[in-house]
Amino acid sequence: MTNPIYVALDTTDLEVALGLANAVRDHVGGVKLGLEFFNANGPDGVAKIAETGLPIFLDLKLHDIPNTVAGAVRAVAPLGVAILNVHASGGPAMMRAAQEAAQEAAAKAGTTAPLLIAVTVLTSFDENDLRSVGQHRPASEQVIRLAQLTQVCGLGGVVCSPKETALLRYACSPDFKLIVPGIRPAGSDTQDQKRVATPVQAKADGADILVIGRAITAADDPAAAAAAIIGELNEASA
Ligand code: C5P
Repeated sequence: MTNPIYVALDTTDLEVALGLANAVRDHVGGVKLGLEFFNANGPDGVAKIAETGLPIFLDLKLHDIPNTVAGAVRAVAPLGVAILNVHASGGPAMMRAAQEAAQEAAAKAGTTAPLLIAVTVLTSFDENDLRSVGQHRPASEQVIRLAQLTQVCGLGGVVCSPKETALLRYACSPDFKLIVPGIRPAGSDTQDQKRVATPVQAKADGADILVIGRAITAADDPAAAAAAIIGELNEASA
């Protein structure tokens, strides 16, 4: 089994991020760097993490007019990240422009294009939040609608909560990647996450990639925590 764990390095501190990446590198499939890291360390910081050899999911959640998003995708293309994302609510023209830009930039640089994925409805949104922005359908319907739109636009997958994974596995094609945060090993603290699943449950529901932050990064021994999770997954798939 390819290691599905991407560890979320949610820090502004490059040395902390590098230390964690190096500590867990033999037990994870990649790292996720978000806006917190990127706004503090920029492309140079991403390049430093890339030197560990771990694939990177650059979680920038791009959302702007198509031309600007395409430009932003081209600007990060030289970093050679494995996964990059946009907001599906940016619409089809924006998503297609992003996908085209990713493919063109990679072809020009002679590299592999990142897997471009989309965020559907932020997991911090509940039905009240959706109504407040004029969205009256149930969250799950909106998630399916945006995931299917993402697929039609030629992107490779979506970020989704554990609650939506099984639903989207059914609603989207088998090769459409489901990237799932909100993962907590059995018996661990859920912290601020409202919808969580164990790693084994999320994989069984159809997750392709598990984004795991604090369950690994806040552990006394992050390498041992990551190793325990991959051990459980291997056991479940044996
Ligand atoms: O520490 P924890 O495992 O909760 O971290 C989850 C990671 O996934 C964080 O980087 C968080 O920003 C990210 N994420 C999330 N829910 C989403 C999208 C991303 O928790 N819908």
